[in-house]
Amino acid sequence: MDAAHWAPSGDNAQPWRFRVEGEHDVIVSIHCERGNVYEYRDGEPTLISAGTLLENIAIAASTFGKTASWRYLGREGSDHRIAVHLEDGHSLPHALFETIWRRSVDRRIYRMQALPTDLKQQLTEAVGSDVTVEWHESLGERRRIAALTNLATGIRLRIPEAFEVHRRILDWNRLQSPDGIPVTALGLDAMTRTIMRWSMANWKRTAFGNYLGAPAFAGLQMDVLPGIFSAAYFAFRMPQPATGDARVSQLLRAGQAVQRFWLTATNLGLSMQPCQAVLAFSHYGAAGEAFTVNGRQRTRAARLAREAAQVLTRPEELVFLARVGFPRSRQMSRSTRKLLDGMIEAV
Ligand SMILES: Cc1cc2nc3c(=O)[nH]c(=O)nc-3n(C[C@H](O)[C@H](O)[C@H](O)COP(=O)(O)O)c2cc1C
Repeated sequence: MDAAHWAPSGDNAQPWRFRVEGEHDVIVSIHCERGNVYEYRDGEPTLISAGTLLENIAIAASTFGKTASWRYLGREGSDHRIAVHLEDGHSLPHALFETIWRRSVDRRIYRMQALPTDLKQQLTEAVGSDVTVEWHESLGERRRIAALTNLATGIRLRIPEAFEVHRRILDWNRLQSPDGIPVTALGLDAMTRTIMRWSMANWKRTAFGNYLGAPAFAGLQMDVLPGIFSAAYFAFRMPQPATGDARVSQLLRAGQAVQRFWLTATNLGLSMQPCQAVLAFSHYGAAGEAFTVNGRQRTRAARLAREAAQVLTRPEELVFLARVGFPRSRQMSRSTRKLLDGMIEAV
């Protein structure tokens, strides 16, 4: 369970709880936060994240002489329930086990260095067959996708719905944050962080900063430059999406593929950053969903959906979008995890 809870989650939300039932079984509850603007299509990012947790369990199980399997049990209100079963097997130290604790999102700019073919192949093989991987490597493609992420940033920094989320999760005081994201891990320079701290004190100040063009400045540092200074963007596509519970299981398996990719990338000395906001806001734009009270940003989301359709082809089939590359230096600031004790429910 310690290995499991080092799985990544959107905004480091850590939406899981565990109930141990005897020697071999654990019930995992995954809480989907209603009303969070990033949790598009009924909480898909949370399910991807739950899949990364299941992959950590599978990797840890094999290291401790077990074989793990899981079954989706369904949903009760906002909580998904998954039964995990551990069977006795052979102990086989897993090449990705130690990496579970080392893997971390890196939002800074990387080296402008292409991925060697053998590394790309190892990453593609790690994904398996539940999703297909699409690579966008040329400078032109990276610039076009960076423009999409920049557009998504322009939307999220201008809507009060995302402001509330950012205020809750940004950690201004710590380099290692157990229950949020350290501001020092956002890839922003010190001056921008200072301005941001002032402007995020209340929505009125943020709106004033937006009026002065703050989102364009932030987008340059958080999207445009990081996109150019990367090896590649990549996306996971689910060509035959199911519905209902079968769709949930598909997303959990896609999350397992995300974690295998991310851990393999870490082992290969690569850094990675998901860019899910593009998928979220282009979904809202394509579906015409009223995700914000701000009408201008709804129009902007429609534009993002049109542009994403040109650059990414059928973005509604994508379940994960991220960039990858060689880091320029070791990262000092990161999200850590809440104490495991509080995540284990008494039987
Ligand atoms: C499904 C999913 C979506 C995410 N989306 C983003 C994103 O759009 N931008 C970003 O910078 N990080 C994103 N992250 C990274 C998380 O913020 C990060 O994993 C979490 O804060 C924990 O930090 P760690 O990965 O360093 O352990 C995402 C992670 C997951 C699992």
